[in-house]
Amino acid sequence: MTAAPSPRRERIAELTADQLRARLPEALQIYVTAMGYPPSTVQQRAPMWSAHMLRAGWRCVGAFTDQDELIGIGYGYLGAPGQWWHEQVRRGLLSSGAEIGDWLDDYFELTELHVHPSGQGAGLGEEILRRLLAGAPGTKVLLSTPEGPTRAWRLYRRVGFTDVLRNYRFAGDPRPFAVLGRPLPLEPR
Ligand SMILES: CC(C)(COP(=O)(O)OP(=O)(O)OC[C@H]1O[C@@H](n2cnc3c(N)ncnc32)[C@H](O)[C@@H]1OP(=O)(O)O)[C@@H](O)C(=O)NCCC(=O)NCCS
Repeated sequence: MTAAPSPRRERIAELTADQLRARLPEALQIYVTAMGYPPSTVQQRAPMWSAHMLRAGWRCVGAFTDQDELIGIGYGYLGAPGQWWHEQVRRGLLSSGAEIGDWLDDYFELTELHVHPSGQGAGLGEEILRRLLAGAPGTKVLLSTPEGPTRAWRLYRRVGFTDVLRNYRFAGDPRPFAVLGRPLPLEPR
């Protein structure tokens, strides 16, 4: 007989823009710690995250400990022409000679997904991702992630993301990135 999985202790919940604004320093702290970025990145990113909250289709999901501390965060919005990321990906697709197809029409951009290192490796990232995408607008989801192998890569492949663009260099960042995508909705587990 196999033991029943123990219930998750963390609470997964959607956050409104007001709720994320109130917890923005906490959320950005998770982001810089998870990504290994310098602490000064918090000040740079705060205005950008705040501007993203105003975009059409913006949606955010957090994971909370039983002490109500934020331990994971994910958000995204509807991608659209004129947005920096959209134009970068379009440029990458055009210069790679790949078929743009309809990837850049009616998609949800998964902009951020991070779990504090103390909570990583226990399925929390996937819980946040699934909850976020369950209510996401658009017929597909796109994201970019540094080339792997990483835990993020394992997660994205596990839930069915395929290659849209590989080894792409976004303006201002020397690291190679992959752009991955998949149709929405996700199949249930
Ligand atoms: C990428 C990231 C969000 C994934 O979140 P996560 O919670 O660590 O990972 P997952 O939800 O995919 O869980 C994965 C692990 O939990 C295990 N797991 C899944 N369900 C579980 C459960 N109920 N109980 C225990 N373990 C479980 C899986 O076996 C898997 O193990 P493995 O990765 O060692 O193979 C997180 O690792 C992170 O923040 N990384 C740094 C920042 C980053 O790269 N962000 C993405 C940028 S695009």
